[in-house]
Amino acid sequence: MITKPISFEYIEDKAHLGGHSLLDLVETYKTPLYVLDKDTICHNSKQFLDPLKAHYPNSKVLYAGKANLTLGIAQLITELGLHLDVSSGGELYTAIKAGVPPSNIYFHGNNKTHEELNLAIQHGVTCIIDNKQELENLCHLHKGKNRIEVLIRLKPEIDAHTHKYIRTGQLDSKFGIEKKDCIPFIKEILKHPKLTFKGLHSHIGSQIFDDKPFLELINIMIPIMKEIKETLNIDIQELNCGGGMGIFYSDNDHPLDIQSFIESFCDSFKKECHQHQLALPTLLFEPGRSLIGPAGITLYKIGAIKPIEQIKTYLFVDGGMADNPRPITYGANYSFDTVIKNERPLHHYSIAGKFCESGDILGENIALEACEVGEYILVFGTGAYNYSMASNYNRNCRPAMIMVDQSGITELVRRESYDDLIRLDQML
Ligand code: LLP
Repeated sequence: MITKPISFEYIEDKAHLGGHSLLDLVETYKTPLYVLDKDTICHNSKQFLDPLKAHYPNSKVLYAGKANLTLGIAQLITELGLHLDVSSGGELYTAIKAGVPPSNIYFHGNNKTHEELNLAIQHGVTCIIDNKQELENLCHLHKGKNRIEVLIRLKPEIDAHTHKYIRTGQLDSKFGIEKKDCIPFIKEILKHPKLTFKGLHSHIGSQIFDDKPFLELINIMIPIMKEIKETLNIDIQELNCGGGMGIFYSDNDHPLDIQSFIESFCDSFKKECHQHQLALPTLLFEPGRSLIGPAGITLYKIGAIKPIEQIKTYLFVDGGMADNPRPITYGANYSFDTVIKNERPLHHYSIAGKFCESGDILGENIALEACEVGEYILVFGTGAYNYSMASNYNRNCRPAMIMVDQSGITELVRRESYDDLIRLDQML
Protein backbone atom coordinates (compact mmCIF):
# COMPACT_ATOMS: atom_id res chain seq x y z
CA MET A 1 0.00 0.00 0.00
CA ILE A 2 1.53 3.32 -1.07
CA THR A 3 0.77 6.10 1.36
CA LYS A 4 3.48 8.44 0.12
CA PRO A 5 5.12 8.92 -3.27
CA ILE A 6 7.79 6.27 -3.79
CA SER A 7 10.68 8.69 -3.99
CA PHE A 8 9.58 10.78 -1.00
CA GLU A 9 12.13 10.90 1.83
CA TYR A 10 13.53 13.19 4.48
CA ILE A 11 17.25 13.79 4.00
CA GLU A 12 18.82 15.57 6.96
CA ASP A 13 15.32 16.53 8.11
CA LYS A 14 14.40 18.13 4.79
CA ALA A 15 11.66 16.59 2.61
CA HIS A 16 12.83 15.42 -0.83
CA LEU A 17 11.01 14.06 -3.87
CA GLY A 18 12.83 12.42 -6.76
CA GLY A 19 16.06 13.48 -5.07
CA HIS A 20 15.08 17.18 -5.11
CA SER A 21 14.79 19.21 -1.94
CA LEU A 22 11.23 20.54 -1.69
CA LEU A 23 12.61 23.75 -0.19
CA ASP A 24 14.62 24.30 -3.37
CA LEU A 25 11.54 23.60 -5.46
CA VAL A 26 9.39 26.18 -3.67
CA GLU A 27 12.15 28.72 -3.98
CA THR A 28 12.13 28.29 -7.74
CA TYR A 29 8.45 27.60 -8.42
CA LYS A 30 6.76 29.37 -5.45
CA THR A 31 3.67 28.09 -3.64
CA PRO A 32 1.12 26.65 -3.81
CA LEU A 33 2.89 24.07 -5.93
CA TYR A 34 1.72 20.73 -7.28
CA VAL A 35 4.59 18.24 -7.53
CA LEU A 36 4.26 14.82 -9.18
CA ASP A 37 6.66 11.97 -8.58
CA LYS A 38 7.33 10.35 -11.95
CA ASP A 39 8.55 7.09 -10.36
CA THR A 40 5.21 6.64 -8.61
CA ILE A 41 3.24 7.11 -11.84
CA CYS A 42 5.48 4.57 -13.60
CA HIS A 43 5.26 2.13 -10.68
CA ASN A 44 1.48 2.40 -10.43
CA SER A 45 1.07 1.89 -14.17
CA LYS A 46 3.12 -1.29 -13.97
CA GLN A 47 0.92 -2.51 -11.13
CA PHE A 48 -1.86 -2.75 -13.72
CA LEU A 49 0.10 -3.52 -16.88
CA ASP A 50 2.34 -6.33 -15.59
CA PRO A 51 -0.29 -8.64 -14.11
CA LEU A 52 -2.50 -8.03 -17.13
CA LYS A 53 0.33 -9.04 -19.45
CA ALA A 54 0.67 -12.26 -17.47
CA HIS A 55 -3.01 -13.06 -16.86
CA TYR A 56 -4.94 -11.38 -19.67
CA PRO A 57 -2.65 -10.11 -22.44
CA ASN A 58 -5.59 -9.12 -24.61
CA SER A 59 -6.20 -6.04 -22.50
CA LYS A 60 -5.74 -2.27 -22.32
CA VAL A 61 -5.28 0.09 -19.42
CA LEU A 62 -6.85 3.46 -20.14
CA TYR A 63 -5.67 6.34 -17.99
CA ALA A 64 -8.77 8.33 -16.98
CA GLY A 65 -7.76 11.81 -18.12
CA LYS A 66 -10.24 13.52 -15.85
CA ALA A 67 -7.93 12.73 -12.92
CA ASN A 68 -5.22 15.06 -14.23
CA LEU A 69 -4.47 15.79 -17.87
CA THR A 70 -1.95 18.11 -19.48
CA LEU A 71 0.07 17.81 -22.68
CA GLY A 72 3.03 16.37 -20.75
CA ILE A 73 0.92 13.89 -18.81
CA ALA A 74 -0.74 12.71 -22.03
CA GLN A 75 2.74 12.15 -23.50
CA LEU A 76 3.96 10.31 -20.42
CA ILE A 77 1.03 7.92 -20.18
CA THR A 78 1.41 7.09 -23.87
CA GLU A 79 5.13 6.37 -23.36
CA LEU A 80 4.17 4.09 -20.48
CA GLY A 81 1.93 2.02 -22.76
CA LEU A 82 -1.35 3.27 -21.36
CA HIS A 83 -4.35 4.23 -23.47
CA LEU A 84 -6.54 7.18 -22.53
CA ASP A 85 -10.13 7.96 -21.74
CA VAL A 86 -11.34 11.52 -22.16
CA SER A 87 -14.59 13.05 -21.01
CA SER A 88 -14.73 16.37 -22.85
CA GLY A 89 -13.68 18.08 -26.04
CA GLY A 90 -10.99 19.86 -24.04
CA GLU A 91 -9.45 16.61 -22.81
CA LEU A 92 -9.70 15.19 -26.32
CA TYR A 93 -8.04 18.26 -27.81
CA THR A 94 -5.24 18.05 -25.22
CA ALA A 95 -4.65 14.39 -26.08
CA ILE A 96 -4.59 15.02 -29.82
CA LYS A 97 -2.23 17.98 -29.44
CA ALA A 98 0.06 15.85 -27.28
CA GLY A 99 0.26 13.29 -30.09
CA VAL A 100 -1.75 10.52 -28.44
CA PRO A 101 -2.75 8.19 -31.32
CA PRO A 102 -6.52 8.59 -31.81
CA SER A 103 -6.85 4.81 -31.84
CA ASN A 104 -5.73 4.90 -28.17
CA ILE A 105 -8.51 7.29 -27.14
CA TYR A 106 -11.98 6.51 -25.78
CA PHE A 107 -14.50 9.32 -25.37
CA HIS A 108 -16.96 9.38 -22.44
CA GLY A 109 -19.66 11.75 -21.32
CA ASN A 110 -23.40 11.84 -20.70
CA ASN A 111 -23.98 14.96 -22.78
CA LYS A 112 -21.33 15.28 -25.45
CA THR A 113 -22.05 18.36 -27.50
CA HIS A 114 -22.27 18.28 -31.29
CA GLU A 115 -18.96 20.10 -31.41
CA GLU A 116 -17.36 17.45 -29.22
CA LEU A 117 -18.83 14.59 -31.23
CA ASN A 118 -17.59 16.21 -34.43
CA LEU A 119 -14.09 16.40 -32.99
CA ALA A 120 -14.29 12.72 -32.04
CA ILE A 121 -15.54 11.79 -35.53
CA GLN A 122 -12.87 13.91 -37.23
CA HIS A 123 -10.12 12.08 -35.35
CA GLY A 124 -11.80 8.67 -35.38
CA VAL A 125 -11.69 8.09 -31.64
CA THR A 126 -13.89 5.43 -30.06
CA CYS A 127 -17.08 6.85 -28.59
CA ILE A 128 -18.72 5.43 -25.51
CA ILE A 129 -22.38 6.09 -26.13
CA ASP A 130 -24.22 7.12 -23.01
CA ASN A 131 -27.87 7.48 -24.09
CA LYS A 132 -30.32 7.27 -26.97
CA GLN A 133 -30.10 10.93 -27.92
CA GLU A 134 -26.36 10.65 -28.23
CA LEU A 135 -26.70 7.70 -30.59
CA GLU A 136 -29.06 9.78 -32.74
CA ASN A 137 -26.68 12.74 -32.67
CA LEU A 138 -23.75 10.58 -33.62
CA CYS A 139 -25.62 8.98 -36.52
CA HIS A 140 -26.72 12.36 -37.74
CA LEU A 141 -23.32 14.02 -37.44
CA HIS A 142 -21.12 11.32 -38.88
CA LYS A 143 -23.02 11.07 -42.19
CA GLY A 144 -20.63 10.79 -45.10
CA LYS A 145 -17.63 10.73 -42.79
CA ASN A 146 -15.28 8.03 -41.57
CA ARG A 147 -16.36 4.92 -39.73
CA ILE A 148 -16.57 5.19 -35.99
CA GLU A 149 -16.24 2.55 -33.31
CA VAL A 150 -18.61 2.63 -30.39
CA LEU A 151 -19.14 1.04 -27.02
CA ILE A 152 -22.33 1.28 -25.00
CA ARG A 153 -22.18 2.47 -21.41
CA LEU A 154 -24.39 0.30 -19.22
CA LYS A 155 -25.54 0.93 -15.67
CA PRO A 156 -24.55 -2.25 -13.90
CA GLU A 157 -26.93 -1.36 -11.04
CA ILE A 158 -24.29 -1.99 -8.43
CA ASP A 159 -24.34 0.33 -5.47
CA ALA A 160 -20.70 0.84 -4.55
CA HIS A 161 -20.33 2.03 -0.98
CA THR A 162 -18.64 5.32 -1.62
CA HIS A 163 -19.51 9.05 -1.47
CA LYS A 164 -22.81 9.63 -3.24
CA TYR A 165 -21.25 12.19 -5.59
CA ILE A 166 -18.76 9.64 -6.92
CA ARG A 167 -21.10 6.66 -7.34
CA THR A 168 -21.99 6.04 -10.94
CA GLY A 169 -23.22 2.48 -11.41
CA GLN A 170 -26.56 2.56 -9.61
CA LEU A 171 -29.94 2.59 -11.37
CA ASP A 172 -30.66 6.28 -10.74
CA SER A 173 -27.26 7.32 -12.11
CA LYS A 174 -27.20 9.94 -14.87
CA PHE A 175 -24.61 7.83 -16.71
CA GLY A 176 -25.38 5.03 -19.11
CA ILE A 177 -28.37 3.06 -20.31
CA GLU A 178 -30.31 0.46 -18.39
CA LYS A 179 -29.42 -3.18 -18.86
CA LYS A 180 -32.90 -4.00 -20.13
CA ASP A 181 -32.40 -1.57 -23.04
CA CYS A 182 -29.12 -3.07 -24.14
CA ILE A 183 -30.27 -5.40 -26.94
CA PRO A 184 -32.60 -2.86 -28.67
CA PHE A 185 -29.80 -0.31 -28.37
CA ILE A 186 -27.29 -2.60 -30.08
CA LYS A 187 -29.85 -3.30 -32.82
CA GLU A 188 -30.11 0.45 -33.41
CA ILE A 189 -26.34 0.70 -33.71
CA LEU A 190 -26.21 -2.20 -36.14
CA LYS A 191 -28.63 -0.40 -38.45
CA HIS A 192 -26.02 2.29 -39.06
CA PRO A 193 -23.45 1.13 -41.59
CA LYS A 194 -20.82 3.63 -40.43
CA LEU A 195 -20.94 2.67 -36.75
CA THR A 196 -19.00 -0.37 -35.57
CA PHE A 197 -20.32 -1.86 -32.35
CA LYS A 198 -17.31 -2.92 -30.28
CA GLY A 199 -18.75 -3.75 -26.90
CA LEU A 200 -19.79 -2.62 -23.47
CA HIS A 201 -18.57 -0.21 -20.83
CA SER A 202 -19.39 0.08 -17.16
CA HIS A 203 -17.99 2.11 -14.27
CA ILE A 204 -19.31 1.55 -10.78
CA GLY A 205 -17.86 4.52 -8.93
CA SER A 206 -14.70 5.85 -7.32
CA GLN A 207 -12.65 5.37 -4.13
CA ILE A 208 -13.67 1.70 -3.91
CA PHE A 209 -11.62 -0.42 -1.51
CA ASP A 210 -13.43 -3.70 -1.84
CA ASP A 211 -13.00 -6.11 -4.74
CA LYS A 212 -16.58 -7.40 -4.35
CA PRO A 213 -18.35 -4.76 -6.47
CA PHE A 214 -15.80 -5.37 -9.24
CA LEU A 215 -16.34 -9.13 -9.07
CA GLU A 216 -20.08 -8.52 -8.99
CA LEU A 217 -19.63 -6.60 -12.23
CA ILE A 218 -18.45 -9.84 -13.87
CA ASN A 219 -21.62 -11.60 -12.74
CA ILE A 220 -23.67 -8.81 -14.25
CA MET A 221 -21.82 -8.53 -17.55
CA ILE A 222 -21.60 -12.25 -18.35
CA PRO A 223 -25.39 -12.78 -18.70
CA ILE A 224 -25.58 -9.65 -20.87
CA MET A 225 -22.75 -10.90 -23.08
CA LYS A 226 -24.57 -14.22 -23.28
CA GLU A 227 -27.83 -12.58 -24.27
CA ILE A 228 -26.02 -10.57 -26.95
CA LYS A 229 -24.50 -13.79 -28.29
CA GLU A 230 -27.78 -15.72 -28.24
CA THR A 231 -30.01 -12.97 -29.61
CA LEU A 232 -27.71 -11.26 -32.08
CA ASN A 233 -24.94 -13.81 -32.55
CA ILE A 234 -22.35 -11.21 -31.61
CA ASP A 235 -19.26 -11.82 -29.52
CA ILE A 236 -18.48 -8.46 -28.01
CA GLN A 237 -14.95 -7.42 -28.87
CA GLU A 238 -14.31 -5.16 -25.89
CA LEU A 239 -15.45 -5.09 -22.30
CA ASN A 240 -14.51 -1.95 -20.38
CA CYS A 241 -14.76 -2.42 -16.62
CA GLY A 242 -14.12 1.20 -15.64
CA GLY A 243 -11.84 2.46 -12.90
CA GLY A 244 -12.48 3.51 -9.34
CA MET A 245 -9.80 1.67 -7.36
CA GLY A 246 -9.43 3.67 -4.17
CA ILE A 247 -6.21 5.21 -2.88
CA PHE A 248 -4.85 6.13 0.54
CA TYR A 249 -5.65 9.64 1.67
CA SER A 250 -5.86 9.05 5.41
CA ASP A 251 -5.82 6.20 7.92
CA ASN A 252 -9.38 5.04 7.12
CA ASP A 253 -8.40 4.16 3.55
CA HIS A 254 -7.19 0.63 2.80
CA PRO A 255 -6.51 0.32 -0.93
CA LEU A 256 -6.74 -2.96 -2.80
CA ASP A 257 -3.49 -4.62 -3.73
CA ILE A 258 -3.77 -3.87 -7.45
CA GLN A 259 -1.65 -6.78 -8.68
CA SER A 260 -3.62 -9.42 -6.83
CA PHE A 261 -6.90 -7.70 -7.61
CA ILE A 262 -6.11 -7.79 -11.35
CA GLU A 263 -5.06 -11.43 -11.10
CA SER A 264 -8.22 -12.53 -9.33
CA PHE A 265 -10.47 -10.40 -11.52
CA CYS A 266 -8.99 -11.82 -14.73
CA ASP A 267 -9.05 -15.39 -13.46
CA SER A 268 -12.73 -15.15 -12.46
CA PHE A 269 -13.62 -13.46 -15.72
CA LYS A 270 -11.88 -16.10 -17.85
CA LYS A 271 -13.53 -18.85 -15.82
CA GLU A 272 -16.99 -17.34 -16.27
CA CYS A 273 -16.50 -16.81 -20.02
CA HIS A 274 -15.33 -20.38 -20.36
CA GLN A 275 -18.27 -21.74 -18.39
CA HIS A 276 -20.74 -19.83 -20.52
CA GLN A 277 -18.90 -20.58 -23.77
CA LEU A 278 -18.23 -16.96 -24.50
CA ALA A 279 -15.28 -15.75 -26.54
CA LEU A 280 -12.84 -13.69 -24.47
CA PRO A 281 -13.15 -10.01 -25.37
CA THR A 282 -10.39 -7.42 -24.98
CA LEU A 283 -10.59 -6.35 -21.36
CA LEU A 284 -10.23 -2.65 -20.55
CA PHE A 285 -9.70 -0.90 -17.23
CA GLU A 286 -9.88 2.85 -16.69
CA PRO A 287 -8.04 3.81 -13.50
CA GLY A 288 -7.36 7.47 -12.98
CA ARG A 289 -6.79 8.26 -9.36
CA SER A 290 -4.92 5.03 -8.55
CA LEU A 291 -2.36 5.78 -11.27
CA ILE A 292 -1.60 9.39 -10.45
CA GLY A 293 -3.21 10.36 -7.12
CA PRO A 294 -0.51 8.95 -4.82
CA ALA A 295 2.21 10.51 -7.00
CA GLY A 296 1.17 14.05 -6.11
CA ILE A 297 1.91 16.36 -3.25
CA THR A 298 0.97 20.01 -2.84
CA LEU A 299 3.24 22.48 -1.11
CA TYR A 300 1.91 25.52 0.75
CA LYS A 301 3.52 28.38 2.65
CA ILE A 302 2.17 29.27 6.08
CA GLY A 303 0.99 32.88 6.10
CA ALA A 304 -0.42 33.18 9.62
CA ILE A 305 -1.21 31.10 12.69
CA LYS A 306 -4.29 32.15 14.64
CA PRO A 307 -5.12 30.49 17.94
CA ILE A 308 -8.68 30.68 19.28
CA GLU A 309 -8.27 29.93 22.93
CA GLN A 310 -9.60 26.57 24.07
CA ILE A 311 -11.09 25.91 20.65
CA LYS A 312 -8.57 25.49 17.87
CA THR A 313 -5.54 26.93 16.18
CA TYR A 314 -5.88 27.96 12.57
CA LEU A 315 -2.92 27.55 10.31
CA PHE A 316 -3.45 29.65 7.19
CA VAL A 317 -1.88 28.53 3.93
CA ASP A 318 -1.54 30.34 0.62
CA GLY A 319 -3.91 28.03 -1.29
CA GLY A 320 -6.99 26.02 -0.39
CA MET A 321 -10.30 25.19 -1.95
CA ALA A 322 -9.42 26.57 -5.39
CA ASP A 323 -6.40 24.28 -5.84
CA ASN A 324 -7.94 21.42 -3.84
CA PRO A 325 -11.74 21.52 -3.90
CA ARG A 326 -12.09 17.93 -2.63
CA PRO A 327 -12.38 18.65 1.13
CA ILE A 328 -15.13 21.26 0.66
CA THR A 329 -16.88 19.21 -2.03
CA TYR A 330 -16.73 15.68 -0.66
CA GLY A 331 -15.54 16.14 2.92
CA ALA A 332 -12.32 14.45 1.76
CA ASN A 333 -9.50 13.89 4.25
CA TYR A 334 -5.80 14.26 3.53
CA SER A 335 -2.48 13.56 5.25
CA PHE A 336 -0.14 16.46 5.94
CA ASP A 337 3.44 16.95 7.03
CA THR A 338 6.01 19.68 7.44
CA VAL A 339 8.69 20.20 4.81
CA ILE A 340 11.34 20.39 7.52
CA LYS A 341 11.42 18.05 10.51
CA ASN A 342 12.30 20.13 13.51
CA GLU A 343 11.52 17.95 16.55
CA ARG A 344 9.29 20.60 18.03
CA PRO A 345 6.33 19.20 20.03
CA LEU A 346 3.21 18.17 18.13
CA HIS A 347 0.44 20.69 17.81
CA HIS A 348 -3.07 20.28 16.36
CA TYR A 349 -4.11 22.66 13.60
CA SER A 350 -7.14 23.50 11.49
CA ILE A 351 -5.47 24.02 8.17
CA ALA A 352 -7.43 26.74 6.40
CA GLY A 353 -7.09 28.16 2.92
CA LYS A 354 -7.08 31.80 1.84
CA PHE A 355 -10.42 31.86 0.05
CA CYS A 356 -13.45 33.81 1.20
CA GLU A 357 -15.45 30.84 2.45
CA SER A 358 -15.62 29.56 6.02
CA GLY A 359 -15.71 26.05 4.59
CA ASP A 360 -12.30 26.51 2.99
CA ILE A 361 -10.60 24.08 5.37
CA LEU A 362 -8.11 21.56 4.00
CA GLY A 363 -7.85 19.56 7.21
CA GLU A 364 -9.24 19.65 10.76
CA ASN A 365 -7.32 18.70 13.88
CA ILE A 366 -4.14 17.87 12.01
CA ALA A 367 -1.15 16.98 14.17
CA LEU A 368 2.08 18.59 12.97
CA GLU A 369 5.33 19.50 14.62
CA ALA A 370 4.69 23.06 15.83
CA CYS A 371 4.86 25.37 12.83
CA GLU A 372 5.94 28.95 12.33
CA VAL A 373 4.87 31.60 9.85
CA GLY A 374 6.95 31.45 6.69
CA GLU A 375 7.50 27.69 6.89
CA TYR A 376 6.10 25.19 4.42
CA ILE A 377 3.73 22.25 4.77
CA LEU A 378 2.87 19.52 2.29
CA VAL A 379 -0.25 17.51 1.53
CA PHE A 380 -0.01 13.94 0.24
CA GLY A 381 -2.22 12.27 -2.34
CA THR A 382 -3.06 15.35 -4.41
CA GLY A 383 -2.05 14.00 -7.84
CA ALA A 384 -5.63 13.32 -8.93
CA TYR A 385 -8.67 15.63 -9.05
CA ASN A 386 -6.75 18.61 -7.67
CA TYR A 387 -5.18 20.34 -10.68
CA SER A 388 -8.02 19.02 -12.87
CA MET A 389 -10.70 20.49 -10.57
CA ALA A 390 -8.86 23.70 -9.70
CA SER A 391 -10.52 27.08 -10.19
CA ASN A 392 -9.65 30.76 -10.16
CA TYR A 393 -12.02 31.52 -7.30
CA ASN A 394 -11.49 34.99 -5.84
CA ARG A 395 -9.37 35.65 -8.94
CA ASN A 396 -6.45 33.70 -7.59
CA CYS A 397 -3.85 32.32 -9.97
CA ARG A 398 -3.72 28.56 -10.34
CA PRO A 399 -0.46 26.95 -9.17
CA ALA A 400 2.29 25.51 -11.32
CA MET A 401 2.55 21.74 -11.61
CA ILE A 402 5.94 20.10 -11.94
CA MET A 403 7.05 16.48 -12.27
CA VAL A 404 10.30 15.29 -10.75
CA ASP A 405 12.58 12.29 -10.80
CA GLN A 406 16.29 11.64 -10.38
CA SER A 407 16.93 12.81 -13.93
CA GLY A 408 15.41 16.26 -13.46
CA ILE A 409 12.45 18.56 -13.09
CA THR A 410 9.78 19.03 -15.76
CA GLU A 411 7.42 21.96 -15.59
CA LEU A 412 4.08 20.51 -16.74
CA VAL A 413 2.05 23.67 -16.23
CA ARG A 414 3.45 27.08 -15.49
CA ARG A 415 1.99 29.21 -12.68
CA GLU A 416 -0.73 31.57 -13.83
CA SER A 417 -0.06 35.28 -13.74
CA TYR A 418 -2.47 38.17 -13.15
CA ASP A 419 -2.27 38.78 -16.89
CA ASP A 420 -3.51 35.24 -17.48
CA LEU A 421 -6.48 36.03 -15.25
CA ILE A 422 -7.64 38.95 -17.40
CA ARG A 423 -6.59 37.43 -20.72
CA LEU A 424 -10.15 36.75 -21.86
CA ASP A 425 -11.80 39.75 -20.20
CA GLN A 426 -13.16 42.55 -22.38
CA MET A 427 -13.31 46.19 -21.26
CA LEU A 428 -16.69 47.92 -21.65
N1 LLP B 1 -14.02 5.87 -15.91
C1 LLP B 1 -15.14 6.59 -15.81
C2 LLP B 1 -16.20 6.38 -16.78
C3 LLP B 1 -15.30 7.52 -14.79
O1 LLP B 1 -16.43 8.20 -14.69
C4 LLP B 1 -14.25 7.73 -13.87
C5 LLP B 1 -14.37 8.72 -12.82
C6 LLP B 1 -13.08 6.96 -14.01
C7 LLP B 1 -13.00 6.03 -15.05
C8 LLP B 1 -11.89 7.10 -13.11
O2 LLP B 1 -12.18 6.87 -11.79
P1 LLP B 1 -11.00 6.83 -10.72
O3 LLP B 1 -10.21 5.57 -10.98
O4 LLP B 1 -10.17 8.04 -10.92
O5 LLP B 1 -11.71 6.83 -9.41
N2 LLP B 1 -13.87 14.31 -8.65
C9 LLP B 1 -14.10 13.11 -7.88
C10 LLP B 1 -13.98 11.88 -8.74
C11 LLP B 1 -14.97 11.82 -9.85
C12 LLP B 1 -14.72 10.62 -10.71
C13 LLP B 1 -15.59 10.60 -11.88
N3 LLP B 1 -15.38 9.48 -12.73
C14 LLP B 1 -13.12 13.07 -6.72
O6 LLP B 1 -12.29 13.97 -6.61
O7 LLP B 1 -13.18 12.17 -5.90
